[in-house]
Amino acid sequence: MKRLSLALLVLAAAPAGTPLAAQSLLYRGPNMGGTWVPDAGVVQFNFLHRFYVTPGPSHSVINYPTFTLAAGFGHGVAVGGRFATKSLVGTGAAAQSSNETELFARWRALGAEGKPGFSVALTPAYNLLAKSVDGEVSVDWTRGALTLEGAGRGVTRELGTSGQRQLALAGGVVTRLTPYIAVSADLGSFVAPVNGRAAWSVALSLLIPGSPHTFSLQASNATSATIQGASVGFAPVGSNRILYGFEFTIPLHLKRFSPWFHGSGRPKLVVPEGAVVAKIAQYKFPTDAVRIPAGATVVWVNDDVAEHTVTFDGTEPGSPMISPGGTFSHRFDRPGTYPYHCTPHPFMKGVVVVK
Ligand code: CU
Repeated sequence: MKRLSLALLVLAAAPAGTPLAAQSLLYRGPNMGGTWVPDAGVVQFNFLHRFYVTPGPSHSVINYPTFTLAAGFGHGVAVGGRFATKSLVGTGAAAQSSNETELFARWRALGAEGKPGFSVALTPAYNLLAKSVDGEVSVDWTRGALTLEGAGRGVTRELGTSGQRQLALAGGVVTRLTPYIAVSADLGSFVAPVNGRAAWSVALSLLIPGSPHTFSLQASNATSATIQGASVGFAPVGSNRILYGFEFTIPLHLKRFSPWFHGSGRPKLVVPEGAVVAKIAQYKFPTDAVRIPAGATVVWVNDDVAEHTVTFDGTEPGSPMISPGGTFSHRFDRPGTYPYHCTPHPFMKGVVVVK
């Protein structure tokens, strides 16, 4: 019961918003590190749980959770850790335990997860169980409903084997069927030297409407989501062991809990003469159309705790991410109807009518 109320508390606290840079399962496969980095002041918590049902007659369930926690520091930098309580990568002679902890830093060198075009992230890491310096270079390419992913991984001491140096390659594809539903598949393996146990996964991922959470149902043969764990399958080739499970992503906005993250406070709103103010609040744009004469300016004011965008369905240039308390102004010179939406929250819709 206590555990349930804690879970509910986390759920209640979490829908503070979705920064564009927040981690979304609609842009990466289950065994891909992705290129996500939480925004400054955001702590990303991902809970991955896989399980294996042993063959009859016992049919016992063995659980394989991986917890990921990462804090964003701005400038595309994050620091975090992953903790897997039953790492199968740790079952070799070198392993003292099956508790696998990986500490990592991440720097997003280019783009952002989910943005069109290329995104690149570098992830240096240290695996405490393997006593191994690990690293990953992740590259995403997104266009419309499609994201292609690639990763190169290096490991100085592989767990569960002779502790040798290893290189791994991984690739994946994600297709978003709707703004809320995606399917993905990926494949990764140690390649130098090849050890014959490629890791694979497939997933159905969902964006939970009205929330910043994503959820995936998945099947895989890998047990943990660390750089090493995502590179190696559960069992040698020839055996057919499949783990099933889910992942849940929770961005926590620290500024909700601590005035320290509020900075210097909200600047006074200055609206140019003749401009019309459109408020964004509680994940909604103004429900009525904003009606203005040609040549007038609309100022969107973000009165929400979440970050939003004003992205026009047509060719009109839209806004970058608008922080809580921030504004975006746009002047409309030509008469017409201008529908728009919010990129991280596609259910948020509005329209400007220029006469
Ligand atoms: Cu939004």
